[in-house]
Amino acid sequence: MEARSDFLVIGSGIAGLDFALKAARSGTVALLTKRNISESATFYAQGGIASVLSEEDTFEAHIKDTLYAGAGLCDHEIVELVVRDGPARINELIELGVKFSERAGAGNGLDLGKEGGHSKRRIVHAQDLTGRAVEQALVEAVRSNPNITVYENHIAVDLISHSKFVASAEKEMVWGAYALDKETGTVNTFLAKATVLATGGAGKVYLYTSNPDIATGDGIAMSYRVGAEIANMEFIQFHPTCLYHPKAKSFLISEAVRGEGGVLRLKDGTAFMKAHHPMADLAPRDIVARAIDRELKKSGDDCVYLDITSKPASFVKDRFPNIYAKCLEFGFDMTKEPLPVVPAAHYTCGGVKTDRDGQTSVKGLYAIGETASTGLHGANRLASNSLLEALVFAERASNHAVETVKSEKAEIPSIPAWQTGGAVVSEEAVVITQNWDEIRRFMWNYVGIVRTDKRLERAERRMTLLKNEINEYYWDFTITNNLVELRNIATVAELIIKSARKRKESRGLHYNIDYPERDEKFLKDTIITI
Ligand code: FAD
Ligand code: SIN
Repeated sequence: MEARSDFLVIGSGIAGLDFALKAARSGTVALLTKRNISESATFYAQGGIASVLSEEDTFEAHIKDTLYAGAGLCDHEIVELVVRDGPARINELIELGVKFSERAGAGNGLDLGKEGGHSKRRIVHAQDLTGRAVEQALVEAVRSNPNITVYENHIAVDLISHSKFVASAEKEMVWGAYALDKETGTVNTFLAKATVLATGGAGKVYLYTSNPDIATGDGIAMSYRVGAEIANMEFIQFHPTCLYHPKAKSFLISEAVRGEGGVLRLKDGTAFMKAHHPMADLAPRDIVARAIDRELKKSGDDCVYLDITSKPASFVKDRFPNIYAKCLEFGFDMTKEPLPVVPAAHYTCGGVKTDRDGQTSVKGLYAIGETASTGLHGANRLASNSLLEALVFAERASNHAVETVKSEKAEIPSIPAWQTGGAVVSEEAVVITQNWDEIRRFMWNYVGIVRTDKRLERAERRMTLLKNEINEYYWDFTITNNLVELRNIATVAELIIKSARKRKESRGLHYNIDYPERDEKFLKDTIITI
């Protein structure tokens, strides 16, 4: 099957859905998503969206907090424009029907939460189910828009690049993507004048992660393969507090719990964060995750504890209904006892490098949301700045793409259908699970919260071996969802290792024992191209 549209959007989290709605005012949109439309990191977001919405807060304070968390690597201009655009984007969500939590007596009626690294209360939220509320409102609007065609269970396999198919190509240009229809097993061709990657992050590269299964870094890997610049992949954010329980799959305990008075304690009850940073439990995330890692290595314990028992049970149940219920399922009543917690991979600060309009270094290709590296986060993202960034760049990229498609009037060239070559159905799918597990385990052990040159070298050697094996397998056998994802996590793991090897200092989320200090020589982005 071949489908043509003005805009092709890959991904149905906050970034992709918001872009689709905006672009659909001016043209046709095809929206691909690899599972059902709602399955995304967005759906699971808990804490909320950071924005200056109270009279006690200022843009300058939000900018300062973002820059401080980013450890010297944020792009100042991008931080300014994202922070200042925040209130307009939040108002749009409210107009769309998102019901944020309210508080009587607050200036704008909204209940604003607090999280690590923020000097003021500025997190707009829907109890602890913010992502679900936002995703549901956006999905509803997309479903009822006649200009948007949604293709669920379609996993984009590769971008369609000009130079591969058009002999006279001068400058590289993307014209859409090939995508596997997981229900029929066929690879379809989606062609468009502008292609937008909104494929989210890559937490699944690590053994322990707060991310849902979709987070395999597909957009980063696909754009790397067509020559786009990839930036700052060494900065993987580990969330300090995921529930420690063999069956909880690193269920997130929102930072908002600490924002409302939760305290991190050792097994013997000692509150340890004051010894690590003046902001104690509300220090930026890199500092808290590293402090927990250090305490666990010192004590030999499996976890630390998050204690919010000082708050009335009715408050906890009302403010955190989802977290309360989930913990109860695993046998923990957080109103009565501290929760066992550990850090887990949470957010990909780097990604496909973009400019202030979401354009990548390859013409016709945009990247927005977690898959992009816009310059907002620098070496460490400030809590709840991610949903904000996605909204701001969906708006900016849609304005730019709409104008470009209108003004350039380029015709989509003729592109051949996907070629299967001599590929056959594999009877050795065990190769996929084996390689997948191996990558995730050594990434956790060697390229995790604390790194050393030796561990990074080891990881690189293993990656080279595995990559060859995966490539061989990829070309010999018919593609499946798992094979596409394995190939992508292998590429992303390699990008993280390579970037980490280049940065011979410690800054933000990248901590290398062999270079424990910041070094001004490295006050620049790490850029990798194929
Ligand atoms: P996602 O929401 O992850 O969506 C990606 C989409 O792309 C999905 O639909 C996926 O199926 C699709 N996709 C991926 N690859 C392909 C492919 N090859 N083909 C087709 N489709 C594909 N941030 C905050 O700011 N505040 C919070 O409170 C917060 N809480 C969080 C809690 C949790 C548990 C997690 C995991 C993250 C949280 N974050 C939070 C981070 C934030 O949720 C994400 O960064 C953000 O939602 C990313 O949005 P996105 O649209 O870029 O990607
Ligand atoms: C959380 O609720 O702790 C997650 C917030 C975020 O990742 O920004």
